[in-house]
Amino acid sequence: MKTKHMTLLFSAVLAGVLLLAACSGPQGPAGAAGEKGAAGLPGAAGSPGPAGPPGPATTPIPAGMAPLAMPPSLATAPTTPGYKGTYGIGRDATKEEIAAWDIDVLPDGTGLPAGSGTVARGATIYAAKCAGCHGDKGQGGLPATSEVLVGTKPWFAKGNPRQQGSRTIGNYWPYASTVFDYIRRAMPFDKPGSLTDDEVYSVAAWLLNQNGIITESAVMDAKTLPQVKMPALDSFFYSGYPDETWPEYR
Ligand code: HEC
Repeated sequence: MKTKHMTLLFSAVLAGVLLLAACSGPQGPAGAAGEKGAAGLPGAAGSPGPAGPPGPATTPIPAGMAPLAMPPSLATAPTTPGYKGTYGIGRDATKEEIAAWDIDVLPDGTGLPAGSGTVARGATIYAAKCAGCHGDKGQGGLPATSEVLVGTKPWFAKGNPRQQGSRTIGNYWPYASTVFDYIRRAMPFDKPGSLTDDEVYSVAAWLLNQNGIITESAVMDAKTLPQVKMPALDSFFYSGYPDETWPEYR
């Protein structure tokens, strides 16, 4: 019983406080404002203090200050949409600049450059530029850089959603062209973009060979690479959601 009364009393006090706060609005509780008043303005505690900071809509422009001018390009309706018309700055990227960034390779091989590479050449390049981080056979290296690149054992078992092993080029990557694309844009990790196209074809060839996908004598180029059928291709199914595929070992 006692507890119940205490609760009721507390609720009443709380309601009172809330009401007071609501009435005094943005100026803050009258009491607090009154305390401020003591700092200079005459006024007994509890009397309304000075108003809070005025909102931006009512800010008067200080004497001697001109209102902010609109930049000329915004004041007049832009005739050309985009950075030049709207902001009056910038220039078009050159063909060369676009080409340097436009390096994506699609699963069907669109975007693959001229050139070619062999497994044997790839072995040398891999040993010199990749093995330090990924292991001499692509088995993974230091914990922080332990991406495993070679391995055919499934990483995922049907009916068991837990990852069981490493995802590798051999058991996970659905398209060989992505091996080229990824290495060319991102590897070596500490010096991306430093390999020639021939070197990328070669190292991709070596990795595909180590994963048991192409023979040792295969030559990889813009024509042959997209024809390589990856073991994991059939392991993906369309989930029903746009742009979403899920791996499944059947
Ligand atoms: C300095 C260490 C380092 C070097 C050298 C290096 N890599 Fe990597 N590599 C990484 C790291 C770290 C990742 C993971 C990057 C990430 O997830 O963003 C990675 C990821 C990869 C992947 C993707 C693996 C996956 O399944 O997600 C491939 C393929 C790859 N590297 C190939 C190469 C090749 C080929 C070379 C040599 C030309 C190379 N790497 C050199 C550190 C390195």
